[in-house]
Amino acid sequence: MSPAPTRRRRTRPARPAGPDARGTEIEVEVGPVAHGGHCVARHEGRVVFVRHALPGERVVARVTEGAEGAKFWRADAVRVLRADAARVEPPCPVAGPGLCGGCDFQHATPARQRELKAAVVAEQFRRLASLDVDVSVEEAPGGGEEPGDGLRWRTRTQFAVDAEGRTGLRAHRSHAVVALQDCPISTRAVVGSGVLAQRFGNVETVEVAAGSDGAAPLVVATPVVGTHAHLPKLAAASVAVRTPEGLHRVSGRTWVGERIGVRGREHDFRVSGAGFWQVHPAAPALLGEAVLAALEPRAGERALDLYSGVGLFTALLADAVGAEGHVLAVEGSERAVRDARKSLHALEQVELWAGAVEEALTDDELVRRGADVVVLDPPRSGAGRDTVAAIAGLAPRAVAYVACDPAALARDTAFLAGHGYVLDGLRAFDLFPMTHHVECVARFVRAATVPTPPQA
Ligand SMILES: C[S@@+](CC[C@H](N)C(=O)[O-])C[C@H]1O[C@@H](n2cnc3c(N)ncnc32)[C@H](O)[C@@H]1O
Repeated sequence: MSPAPTRRRRTRPARPAGPDARGTEIEVEVGPVAHGGHCVARHEGRVVFVRHALPGERVVARVTEGAEGAKFWRADAVRVLRADAARVEPPCPVAGPGLCGGCDFQHATPARQRELKAAVVAEQFRRLASLDVDVSVEEAPGGGEEPGDGLRWRTRTQFAVDAEGRTGLRAHRSHAVVALQDCPISTRAVVGSGVLAQRFGNVETVEVAAGSDGAAPLVVATPVVGTHAHLPKLAAASVAVRTPEGLHRVSGRTWVGERIGVRGREHDFRVSGAGFWQVHPAAPALLGEAVLAALEPRAGERALDLYSGVGLFTALLADAVGAEGHVLAVEGSERAVRDARKSLHALEQVELWAGAVEEALTDDELVRRGADVVVLDPPRSGAGRDTVAAIAGLAPRAVAYVACDPAALARDTAFLAGHGYVLDGLRAFDLFPMTHHVECVARFVRAATVPTPPQA
């Protein structure tokens, strides 16, 4: 056998690295919003990603990243010369250039934020799936100091701890911690845990999770590697420390209780150690309802819940397919599967598998039986080409894809199309007001099964 030919690596000609452009102030016309919480502008032919600006504005932007020879720069709008009508004073005092990196759009009305997110979703589908989608981003009820203000919705917040032991959030694309007294997008319960008023010793991060069961929030501290955490007294919270061996209880419970009601049925969930649960209080019911509407599961059907967490969609699918049906849930976190087992033990039609989705989908029995409906809710990176191919191989009549990154969703949409599954409905929800994040629920069906509109 002749040796395999050696692959030549193609290299791009290196751009000359010029002097650091950071701190340079430039005046630019701000163009369209782009994925990631910034808008696109051009300066002397170079692309500049400008934060704290809105499309159509003219601003002075200060370069935050980039050298003279670089292809693009990043910048912050530091002075607005011509403002968009939807520009507002950020409600949070640390939302601005060089300050907290937690929010991206505090300078726009919540309605304008939703328009920006809709534009981003549409752009991702155009670019990555070659599809024109007409999508609007739906406002989520709940949270807020006042209805629709986009504040006090975050029931889970991970705070960083600075060298002095103060809690806060990191600056944008930086390790620097901006110490906070309040975080206006976090719920009163999260802030009321007391973590922002206290100092922590030898702690890297402090996660706070407030459940909907009304119990005290759970605070989980992660110590600096190789040290012992020094924790303040937190009278209004349960406290635990994350150790290499697992979760060490300091006081109260090591889990959070959640209750949701969808289509007249209530379910209780247990979420251990600040594990994954949707962060907006309206999200579980809103997404649950959207998934059911996308799949229309029927009594007796076989449903598959991929990346199932503690079993949110599993429970709803189990109600829908009934005792004669079957729901297989696959989740990579053993702890989440243990939680699901505790919460869903009464539902005999539910089967829980702990393990990687990509491996589960190669199971002979699953491949032989197939599935009638599939919901998948992967992490930000999406499901990917192989997982999408394996799902299509199960020949479901409908697939509901819950996505927290529209780029990953659009990429996987293109892969699904390659296997004969077409987009047959797309909804988007503003489950992360003030940030650039947006949650989508897409419905896919086999190409031949898309109903054609009646002929005139
Ligand atoms: C976005 S969460 C969705 C959880 C759940 N559907 C919900 O709404 O509560 C994604 C879940 O996928 C799990 N996960 C990530 N990668 C995985 C993989 N390769 N295989 C199985 N589970 C995975 C994570 O542990 C996490 O629970």
